[in-house]
Amino acid sequence: MTIGNVPLDPPFLLAPMAGMTDTAFRRLVKRHGGCGLVVTEMVSSEGLVRGIDRTLEYAEYTEEERPVSIQIFGGDPDKMAAAAGIVEAMGADIVDVNMGCPVPKIAKHNAGCSLMREPSHAAAIVRAMSRAVRIPVTVKMRAGWDERDINAPVMARLMEDAGAAAVAVHGRTAAQSYSGVSDWRLIETVAGGVGIPVFGSGDCVTARQVVERTADTPVAGVLVGRGALRNPWIFRQAAALAGGTAEPAVTDADRGRFLLDYIDMLLREGMDERRGFRHVAPGMPQQRRPRHAAGRERWVVNKLRALGSWYTKGVHGGSALRTAINSAASVDELRAVIRRFFLAPEPAPPREAPAH
Ligand SMILES: Cc1cc2nc3c(=O)[nH]c(=O)nc-3n(C[C@H](O)[C@H](O)[C@H](O)COP(=O)(O)O)c2cc1C
Repeated sequence: MTIGNVPLDPPFLLAPMAGMTDTAFRRLVKRHGGCGLVVTEMVSSEGLVRGIDRTLEYAEYTEEERPVSIQIFGGDPDKMAAAAGIVEAMGADIVDVNMGCPVPKIAKHNAGCSLMREPSHAAAIVRAMSRAVRIPVTVKMRAGWDERDINAPVMARLMEDAGAAAVAVHGRTAAQSYSGVSDWRLIETVAGGVGIPVFGSGDCVTARQVVERTADTPVAGVLVGRGALRNPWIFRQAAALAGGTAEPAVTDADRGRFLLDYIDMLLREGMDERRGFRHVAPGMPQQRRPRHAAGRERWVVNKLRALGSWYTKGVHGGSALRTAINSAASVDELRAVIRRFFLAPEPAPPREAPAH
């Protein structure tokens, strides 16, 4: 399956998640296999056009993440087209438009899910972007604004007409935010009504769910969000299931190693990569994440707390682990907590007393 000329193999995608799907996390997911496309955190079109450091950092990616989609948000067609041009110049494979974010800070600027209330304006944005770049332009939307206005099927057709190469639908309304459940029936209806691939999003937390959502339906693929924060191996497991083999097991040691690797990668992020390896916006300044040791360490501790709140769900003893991660004040403490929880050798079973 492809989006434009970008092959997705398999059609299981890491969903965009602000604060979570940074380049280090995306690389680790790719290394564990089974993920056909990664999407960045949402990136402000305004920030890209103005060359704001922090924004540029969100858009960075590395070669091993390919194919990679950079998601941008904004409400101004000209700026969105210019931002798409920057994304293309960075070498990204796909540029995605956020039409799903319900957060008022974003929605009030005529961006995110509020675009679903203005379908013709949303189409103007996608049209301007499609004219500006040669890479595929895709749209990620919700079911609609609220239950009185479920318009994803209509929106998808408009986006297709405006030049979108694919759409993804999170089957909740903006009003629902994350309550209730994602409406996969609606997602299938959307997929049945357009000629471009439609991807579904919402509530896939097991590999089996990921595979079943695409079996015998017009839905082209699945975006996994929170399920991947809990279990970054979900893609590899789904790919195995789809290929008719058993889900590979994930050991405690694997889970511990993942967090330790994530810490190491965050500590090094942007510090030691060779020129040309990292894709940054051309001609833009590159001062970003804290470079001094104390600031960097605080940043890493906060990143681990954010991931820990998801990663510990469904793990035996997870709430104690979450508390321990949240109380760790340094990287060394974090590493010790992780090693103790996941990697400490099992105590040897008590020896039976010798018979006399
Ligand atoms: C912490 C978090 C951040 C998110 N950030 C974004 C985002 O930046 N852009 C976007 O389109 N969706 C974002 N989403 C929505 C997800 O991409 C996804 O559609 C939603 O979580 C439902 O899928 P899931 O049940 O697999 O998590 C975010 C979700 C979460 C939980």
